[in-house]
Amino acid sequence: MMASMTAIDIVISPARPHHCEALARLHRDAWRLAYRGIIPHLALERMVARRTAEWWARALRRGAPILVAEFAGELAGYAHVGPSRAPPLGYGGELYELYMKPEYQGLGFGQKLFEAAGARLRRRFDRGFLVWALSDNEPAHDFYRAMGGRKICRATSCFDGVRLAKTGYGWRA
Ligand SMILES: CC(C)(COP(=O)(O)OP(=O)(O)OC[C@H]1O[C@@H](n2cnc3c(N)ncnc32)[C@H](O)[C@@H]1OP(=O)(O)O)[C@@H](O)C(=O)NCCC(=O)NCCS
Repeated sequence: MMASMTAIDIVISPARPHHCEALARLHRDAWRLAYRGIIPHLALERMVARRTAEWWARALRRGAPILVAEFAGELAGYAHVGPSRAPPLGYGGELYELYMKPEYQGLGFGQKLFEAAGARLRRRFDRGFLVWALSDNEPAHDFYRAMGGRKICRATSCFDGVRLAKTGYGWRA
């Protein structure tokens, strides 16, 4: 008899309270990897320290739309979506955050999570959605371009007195 093989794929669902500990760890690891040497060290560590499991639990209690991607029961990534924080740019929704755990990056899972987040954004908001990426975060730009994003504008964010450029990408409805 031939051995049967079970294909394991990524499972995407809304975050629930039992994800909060893993969300805090994933956020810490992914942000340190993505932003070390880009965001000033202390500012980055403060942002990481704020995102405790309790922070995530509070966000869920407030109804924040956060999607999680799990692989074989392990948290592999998350996406946080909502209304655009810059409505005059002409996009109704915004992908606030999309992060894969470092060991799960580059395997095609980010694309699946992006597509799930995009579908949710299109259902909830008119006029498509946008995402911001710090200009020095080059892999993120390659990814958003590969996802069909159109460069729409540049702006800056300030971290401990250091002004960093960021680029907005848009997807039309
Ligand atoms: C950006 C991120 C979400 C992408 O997810 P991922 O699972 O690594 O990406 P995928 O494997 O799904 O890539 C899909 C496509 O995007 C492109 N891509 C992704 N990462 C890339 C990179 N580093 N360089 C070039 N192209 C890239 C490729 O075209 C890829 O398709 P291919 O592998 O068939 O060529 C993930 O790498 C991540 O969490 N990075 C750190 C955090 C971050 O920067 N988040 C965005 C903040 S704005």
